[in-house]
Amino acid sequence: MRDESLTITDNRTGKTYKVPIENGAIRAIDLRQIKTEEDDFGLMTYDPGFLNTASCQSRITYIDGERGILNYRGYPIEQLAESSTFVETAYLIIHGELPTRQQLEDWTYHITHHTIIHRNIEKFIDGFHYDAHPMGVLLSTVAALSTFYPDAHDIMNPESRQLQTYRLLAKMPTLAAFAYRHSIGMPYAYPDNDLNYTGNFLNMLFKKTELKYRPDPVLERALDVLFILHADHEQNCSTSAMRSVGSSQVDPYSATADAAAALYGPLHGGANEAVLRMLTEIGSKEHIPDFIRRVKAGEGRLMGFGHRVYKNYDPRARIIKRMADEVFKVTGKNPLLEIALELEKIALEDEYFIKRKLYPNVDFYSGLIYQAMGFPITIFPVLFAIARTAGWVAQWIEMIGDADQKIARPRQIYLGADARDYVPIDQRA
Ligand code: ACO
Repeated sequence: MRDESLTITDNRTGKTYKVPIENGAIRAIDLRQIKTEEDDFGLMTYDPGFLNTASCQSRITYIDGERGILNYRGYPIEQLAESSTFVETAYLIIHGELPTRQQLEDWTYHITHHTIIHRNIEKFIDGFHYDAHPMGVLLSTVAALSTFYPDAHDIMNPESRQLQTYRLLAKMPTLAAFAYRHSIGMPYAYPDNDLNYTGNFLNMLFKKTELKYRPDPVLERALDVLFILHADHEQNCSTSAMRSVGSSQVDPYSATADAAAALYGPLHGGANEAVLRMLTEIGSKEHIPDFIRRVKAGEGRLMGFGHRVYKNYDPRARIIKRMADEVFKVTGKNPLLEIALELEKIALEDEYFIKRKLYPNVDFYSGLIYQAMGFPITIFPVLFAIARTAGWVAQWIEMIGDADQKIARPRQIYLGADARDYVPIDQRA
């Protein structure tokens, strides 16, 4: 049998330590025994941005960034995008197995029947300025939900967790759609239980005076696939926020608000918005070489390119690129597509991008589809947040049930001033 351990020699003391290796990792706490003196704190690891630190054990999502593989609960993303629906995928991610027909019916029923939000939440949304970013509205109102459902604090109770799961999955599209309607001064459109998850979301966004909104089946399905692709992505920035904040045992609405805030940033869920702004700024294919030159000179980033984990083509980007053709058949081509295709072609042949393994990520093409479907740019990260709620909830539930987990509390390496006496203001230089 292979010896699954690591032998470390501390050259400061000449002492040797044997540390067990489990699942390809050592426990950072095992390094604490490595000391130069008895009262020494012990050795730590320094890992800003968690480049090489596993913060948890998880059974939800598997990514092989070198080979461009993404599986939810073992099922390849390509198969789920082809054959599943977002609601079914959310069940899979959260419960670990594909549902039976009856389980799927029950799951769909509950999610469909929790879509309404309290009238007072509508009043909060009314109170936002007309040009409030919908992501800011979404994350504030999802936090506010915690005040409407005090039972959500009972996080150790599986029945309570189940109920909050229905509510979160059901209400996120409603909050998002109402935030959008507010921004354009339209009255809120209430949920329609005859429609499926994405069809109803389109209804709440785009219904005007017609008695019944009928979503285009191609666009409804395309949005559903985009939601499947965004449903989870293991320990990314927003999911880490969900787990980190959730580890304090706060209710899931407050933790989801923090996850949504993390997703708001341009390096994460705000990237598809940033891609569209970038493509619009480039304006035409002739300006691409100059833009690439500026990126290489460090004057900005090629948004929608590069990923902390994928060092190969993001498998989600490949699916989206293919799907774009079907959407554009219905909506007409997005004129920015030509620029995106040319940009990708040039970047993939350029030494700078090849050397750094920078490939298109999920956000490079998704914005083009969203824009062609009539979504305003500011709502792009909101779409991401709706889908990712499935992953956040799944990871939160997994964390609650993990006996290894404790409140997230990283260490630091203190490099500041030594202890010194307070100086009264009239004696300061
Ligand atoms: N354009 C140009 N150069 C880039 C880009 C980019 N998009 N991404 C990385 N680089 C360069 C960096 O400048 C750095 O170069 P250097 O070694 O010469 O200094 C090198 O590649 C490594 O970059 P890091 O920032 O260290 O990589 P990290 O893993 O920390 O960043 C990230 C990953 C944030 C996604 C980054 O690639 C990026 O900013 N991309 C653009 C934003 C984006 O598309 N985000 C969406 C990510 S997907 C998602 O969240 C759903």
